[in-house]
Amino acid sequence: MCGIIGYIGKRNAPDIVIDALKRAETRGYHGFGVAVSTGNKFEIRKKGGEDCLGDFLELVSKSLLPKSSYAFGHNRWATHGTPEDRNAHPHLSQSGRLAIVHNGIIENYSVLKNTIEKETGVSLKLISDTDTEVLVNWIEYVQKLSKLSLKEAMKSALENVEGTFAFIVASLDEPGVFVGAVRGRTMRIGVGEHEGEKEFFIASEVYPFSHYTQTYVVIPSHKLISVTKDGYIVEDTRTGLVETPELKKLEITLHATEKGEYKYWMDKEIHEQPRMIENVLQGRVDLRDKSVILGGIKEYEKDLANASILHIVAHGTSFNSALLFKYWCEAIAGIPVNVELASEFRYRKTLVSNGSFVIGISQSGETADTIVALEHAQELGATILGICNVEGSHMSEMTDAGIFLRAGRELGVASTKTFTAQMAVGMMLSLHLARIKGVLPEGSYQELFEELQSLPLYIEEVLSLDNPNIKLALELLKNASSAYYIGRGVSYPIALEGALKIKEIAGIHAEGYAASEMKHGPIGLLDKHMPVVAIATSSSQIDKMISNIKEAQARKAPVIALVTRGNPNNVPADIHIELPEVREEFSPFINILPLQILAFRLALMKGKNPDKPEGLAKSITVE
Ligand code: AGP
Repeated sequence: MCGIIGYIGKRNAPDIVIDALKRAETRGYHGFGVAVSTGNKFEIRKKGGEDCLGDFLELVSKSLLPKSSYAFGHNRWATHGTPEDRNAHPHLSQSGRLAIVHNGIIENYSVLKNTIEKETGVSLKLISDTDTEVLVNWIEYVQKLSKLSLKEAMKSALENVEGTFAFIVASLDEPGVFVGAVRGRTMRIGVGEHEGEKEFFIASEVYPFSHYTQTYVVIPSHKLISVTKDGYIVEDTRTGLVETPELKKLEITLHATEKGEYKYWMDKEIHEQPRMIENVLQGRVDLRDKSVILGGIKEYEKDLANASILHIVAHGTSFNSALLFKYWCEAIAGIPVNVELASEFRYRKTLVSNGSFVIGISQSGETADTIVALEHAQELGATILGICNVEGSHMSEMTDAGIFLRAGRELGVASTKTFTAQMAVGMMLSLHLARIKGVLPEGSYQELFEELQSLPLYIEEVLSLDNPNIKLALELLKNASSAYYIGRGVSYPIALEGALKIKEIAGIHAEGYAASEMKHGPIGLLDKHMPVVAIATSSSQIDKMISNIKEAQARKAPVIALVTRGNPNNVPADIHIELPEVREEFSPFINILPLQILAFRLALMKGKNPDKPEGLAKSITVE
């Protein structure tokens, strides 16, 4: 959500910045902009609007920027101000001598604005509706008063700034220097070399520069940085001490593969799930002694197995996968699991302390709600662990230990393969803890372990089925303004995830329910216009599930049912989507696939771009 990027080095900086903005597009596509200093002014090219990368690229191709070794840019996910040109970053101060790009929220921007206006007696002539433009003016105001360097003035200005942010500022008066600040966020500096000279990339994440350099440092919260062509200085804003962050090397290649035969990332990501699961399992399952190896949490595994309860915090799709982990971990390993939306966990009185384990699940590793919940848990004394997909992400850096998903980069805004990877890690962790604890009979463990190995084959089979009933289901859903998704047991989180997908990318209102919950209120809205998608593959609760479907049919709701091949349970429905039979514990891996496909194809039918659902971004870095 909002991406910032800066470059200093021998390459042509505007080209590098524009390339990085394309690569980080899913952080926000409400605005794109780039700034270059010509010595006496900033040349800025920017575009705002819904999904405006194309317009921005056209602008920079027609209106070329001067060549420079120093440039910075931004992609925007709107918080303050609608998506239009004037709200896109970079923003200038009133004098035009400072330029800024910013990710985050300045909570007291109106107080800062009023202070400037009151103290100077002059109204700010703001061009945008953003908190960012106020911030750059606040820095300019403090610098004018104090006559300090940009860095020292920023340090002083920050004392009165409330909020969480990462931003970089450049000044015409100090050419070749970026000064940046981070609070409640992280930033990265990529450290490379080109034609015998050092080069530096400042960015919200490693991906935009990972094809230029694999070496980087993470800039955590409460830091001030200054970067020039010769190096960078990192200072703690609380202690004033200069720090030397550890140089890190990317271990996983983050290069985006091409879309290949696919037009959309989401389609590609759905279809690469069999290979992705192989990658998730590789090196983590020992076939000789049928054990799971999770090196990232080795130090804590015994304590985890003996914990009286595990707390999981997450949002969105990651929350749905966390619910599945709860079902599996409690059933397989006998360890109680509390799953909560991170934002709720953070701001209520939670009973975690020394000895507690709080695990964050996040595809991006940047979700602000989840990050602050983990920080809070750490302050209360808990050990914090992370399950995330992005190496070098905020979560991966802040947690005591964790497990990477290894799903490969996901570019579609809607999570698909990373959900499946989260499920696979959840199942592996449940099996691993069960074995350490010794609670599962060896035979049962072996059966589950073997089924885990078969996942890529099952998934491949489902993805290769060209089920004609999917077309019928699409016809039924495309005209609906609302739909219910229902399931029981491990199919309940899948109902939530299926409904989230269709809501997110096809623009159809949908709610997921535990099937039994329907009769406690939602059933009142059922009629012939409200389809119900029922996850009704073979399970221990299939008879009850059938009753819930009949309740929907009695109210004339059309039913699309996911059923086990041959429909051995005689599930009543208007449209049956048959799926291969797997053990109930593993059915979520199979059942989610047609729901992802339905959402993807519905989005296309409704003329939407499934990769970039309106108003959403890939990582949500504001609370
Ligand atoms: C998933 O399709 C959504 N884009 C969204 O719900 C997402 O899962 C949520 O914002 C959490 O993101 P995270 O996994 O990166 O923490």
